[in-house]
Amino acid sequence: QTGYVTLDSGYKNTGATKSAITFLDGEEGILRYRGYPIEQLAEKSSFLEVAYLLIYGALPTQSEFDSFRHQITQHTLIHEDIRKILDGFPSSAHPMGILSSLVCSLTAFYPKSIAPEISKEELNLNIVRLMAKISTIAAWSYKNSVGHPLIYPRNDLDYCANFLYMMFSFPTEKYEINPVVVSALNKLLILHADHEQNCSTSTVRLVGSANASLYGSVSAGINALWGPLHGGANQEVVEMLEAIQADGGNTQKWVDKAKDKNDSFRLMGFGHRVYKNFDPRAKIIKKAADEVLNALGINDPLLKIAGELEQAALTDPYFVERKLYPNVDFYSGIIYRALGIPTEMFTVLFAMGRLPGWIAQWKEMRENKEPIGRPRQIYTGELQRDYQEISAR
Ligand code: SDX
Repeated sequence: QTGYVTLDSGYKNTGATKSAITFLDGEEGILRYRGYPIEQLAEKSSFLEVAYLLIYGALPTQSEFDSFRHQITQHTLIHEDIRKILDGFPSSAHPMGILSSLVCSLTAFYPKSIAPEISKEELNLNIVRLMAKISTIAAWSYKNSVGHPLIYPRNDLDYCANFLYMMFSFPTEKYEINPVVVSALNKLLILHADHEQNCSTSTVRLVGSANASLYGSVSAGINALWGPLHGGANQEVVEMLEAIQADGGNTQKWVDKAKDKNDSFRLMGFGHRVYKNFDPRAKIIKKAADEVLNALGINDPLLKIAGELEQAALTDPYFVERKLYPNVDFYSGIIYRALGIPTEMFTVLFAMGRLPGWIAQWKEMRENKEPIGRPRQIYTGELQRDYQEISAR
């Protein structure tokens, strides 16, 4: 404490805002969206209905939901000039970099979206455009990476089915929509939809607090989520499980490696800033992983390795003392693999799921007219000194 500043690096003990959107209890492992437990929403709701709930604050009536879904369906196409930007990326580009770039490019195609003050109608149009176009942009970034023809959205398909169609169909053959896959994707997107003031959401709020556009703020959030300590962990978990498999499946060796302070390796998908007990999402996803793999007749050896790794860590004093449990990223990749989603697209799916949360939090921040975010610091640099001519240095 120096005078007027309390240092709280990583904001571990700082409440940045007041919010009515999502409630977390880290000790009890509780997560509720607008008061509804995620366990109920994951079982009974759909991703678009949860998106409406988060953004507008209540579960929609049938007519409200039909209108929301219809509007989104009408906006899934993206401007053909965005294809030209996409074509400029090398096929090796990580899809998260493409996603944040193309989401930000929407400011160029919808210039009204960058006005500091926008009407409620314009905001709702920007929200619908973003919810609709992110799935097309995501699917096209994948097709671009594998050199396959881009697949245009279809208005007769629901949100998740349309995304899978754009991801996996080919113009040369009929694509069968698998209801098990659609249901699993809905559940995963619901479970990722919001998580109060996590790193990427705080980023969206901070950028938006400068009266920056929704598209620009979400683009910044996508980049924060990309970090391997945040949403990027879901890709890291599967790559870690594959490394353990290649190494003969000795999970204890990897648990010991994660405890070694001289080794930067961390058990990806483990630990959480808020949950000091099981992440309630991890519980649901772990159960769903078993169900989806059984339903699809898939026997993924990584699921067995994940279970052994979890048991080894949960009984190890290092992890128990630090209250490190599996988080949302630990099992989600197992399901994404089963759905045929390639590893480098995992964090893109996280971004698609988190989008309604980012939108809801940005909207709340703006409606509450919150001040521009501008934290202070404790200065540790040089005291005052005078300029020296270069000849005298
Ligand atoms: C997400 O905030 C959110 O809500 C995020 C999220 C969301 O929905 O938005 O839930 C999504 O980001 C989930 C987290 C995904 N990240 C990972 O799985 C990466 C691995 N996990 C860690 O890097 C870590 O646990 C964090 C980043 C998740 C949390 O970090 P904290 O709260 O800053 O904790 P810390 O780094 O200070 O760790 C405390 C101690 C340290 O040891 P000591 O200094 O006390 O000796 O626990 C150790 C850490 O070294 N530790 C781990 C570990 N996680 C923490 N050691 C080994 N493996 C790990 N995974």
